[in-house]
Amino acid sequence: MPEILNIGIIGLGVMGQRMLSRMQGHARLRPVLVWDADPARLAACLQQHPELRAAYSAEALIASPGLHGLYIATPPAAHLHLSHLGFDAGLAVLCEKPLSVDFEATRACIARIQREKLRAAVNFSLASSAGLSALQLAFGAAAHMPLGALQEVQISLAFAAWPRPWQAQAGSWLAERAEGGFTREVLSHFIFALQRVLGPAQVLAAAAQYPADGLSAETGLRAELRAAGVPVRIAAQVGGSVADDNRMLWRASEAELELRDWFTNVTQTRHGELPQPALLQGAGPLAQLDQWAALLDGHSHALPSYAEALAVQETIEALLSTPQA
Ligand SMILES: NC(=O)c1ccc[n+]([C@@H]2O[C@H](COP(=O)([O-])OP(=O)(O)OC[C@H]3O[C@@H](n4cnc5c(N)ncnc54)[C@H](O)[C@@H]3O)[C@@H](O)[C@H]2O)c1
Repeated sequence: MPEILNIGIIGLGVMGQRMLSRMQGHARLRPVLVWDADPARLAACLQQHPELRAAYSAEALIASPGLHGLYIATPPAAHLHLSHLGFDAGLAVLCEKPLSVDFEATRACIARIQREKLRAAVNFSLASSAGLSALQLAFGAAAHMPLGALQEVQISLAFAAWPRPWQAQAGSWLAERAEGGFTREVLSHFIFALQRVLGPAQVLAAAAQYPADGLSAETGLRAELRAAGVPVRIAAQVGGSVADDNRMLWRASEAELELRDWFTNVTQTRHGELPQPALLQGAGPLAQLDQWAALLDGHSHALPSYAEALAVQETIEALLSTPQA
């Protein structure tokens, strides 16, 4: 693979713009070609990034010579179709989460990836976080249980408003229950971390609250799950004064690990001590980009596969559809 990796981006909303900014700081990933179905979004992006070129369509972008990878940052409905087009063109594909709520189509896509040995991953950003490394060290399959046996996991989320202020420009899909809502958009990241460490979770009971309009996304969720025999409790709501309050508590027999603010704030209470605390430094968005470069190079990487993202989505949709006990 060449030193500079040329990337085409489809979807230039909140997340596409964010990723474009992050890529400015990376030595190898170079965004070159962009496309958005909304001409105003495309024009605004080109004005802000005159170094980029616009394609005439998603298909034209994907067929352009010289690209090494495709990044898909549209809402979920287009993810699988665009992924297949990227694979047809021989591109490595990084797709935004949630991958899709169409499980049958997702399974067919995963079968193709495995059959054709394609390069594909989903952008759960906690995959490269120091917090996830700490959890693996403490509770992963290869861990020597330095904090004792895991007894319980709690996930707590609260949002002063949904969508959050920084997503005010996002499309209406984000506020609607068909594709949006905080369970898919935010809780999915923590379910990813849970399942990466403990394996598949089973939903035992769940109660989502919805507005009466029949259209808007959930405003609250309480649920009980079990993963690797460990009880997992979720309490999430739209309410309170904090724009984006998220915490995950891992309670073990000797100590507790609490991860707050997207795993950037990790605190440990009581006795046990994690080995290799150096691993808690230096990970984050740039590390995720290094993993993406590894995917493009065809090397091993820590990004979630499409199969891992499907497993997350199966848990998420079960949470949203489980009738109240
Ligand atoms: N990984 C993360 O941390 C993270 C954070 C926020 C959002 N996301 C995900 O990123 C994706 C995009 O979210 P967003 O907040 O940027 O949404 P958004 O509504 O702000 O932007 C989506 C953009 O995609 C464009 N679009 C829609 N359909 C298209 C198509 N078929 N072809 C080309 N362009 C199309 C829209 O015009 C819009 O500009 C979602 O899947 C979301 O869940 C991930």
